[in-house]
Amino acid sequence: MASLRASELLIASGRVAVNGNNRLELGVKVDPTRDRITLDGKSVSLLSELHRYLVLHKPTGVTSTTSDRYASKTVLDLAPSDMGRLYPVGRLDRETSGLLLLTNDGAFANLMMHPRHHVPRVYRARVKGILQPETLDVLRSGVDLEDGKTQPSHVRRLPALTVPDADALEITVFEGRNRQVRRMLEAVGHPVTALCRVAIGPLKLGRLPRGRWREMTRGEVEQLRALALRTTAPAV
Ligand code: URA
Repeated sequence: MASLRASELLIASGRVAVNGNNRLELGVKVDPTRDRITLDGKSVSLLSELHRYLVLHKPTGVTSTTSDRYASKTVLDLAPSDMGRLYPVGRLDRETSGLLLLTNDGAFANLMMHPRHHVPRVYRARVKGILQPETLDVLRSGVDLEDGKTQPSHVRRLPALTVPDADALEITVFEGRNRQVRRMLEAVGHPVTALCRVAIGPLKLGRLPRGRWREMTRGEVEQLRALALRTTAPAV
């Protein structure tokens, strides 16, 4: 709403209030999911009206990198055409389905793609072979990959598949390395046969049909933003 300097003047002059309190120190921290911020008594949203935030259920066979000139179909082909240019937030492999965010808010996209934040990403995987308890423990504690050991993850087995010699599991990772889940499972001898991202932090794919999108609610955007800010490790 205003530049940093102008905002400081607004705060110093008592025109800004957080939860009704206008005696604020500069640099006061607010939680956009809980605190009510007002300017001259009117609610102020921390989000611009012009920003759009979509959840897309990416099907397999669709590319999420929009710079791939040779891709026959990208996620933007599935996005609405009347919202201007949207960008995918991060990527899913062509053969991975599931939850992908699209937005035109560059700051939000950068925050969500920041390598130092630890917003959990939840995947459901089908793999070859039956996982032994020791293998589940290796996945949980960290797997040695060529770009270093993975951080601890949460892993749980899903109900057994009817397919012989195959298993299903849910894996939650807290870092966003390229093809991470596939590489982790390959490294422990259980290559992935199907992979779907079902959640990013509190945001769930739910029953959104494959290939369809919906707009995120303001609350969902603010929750994700707050979580990314809270889980961003400081630079060392
Ligand atoms: N991990 C993978 O292996 N692939 C994805 O698309 C996302 C996470």
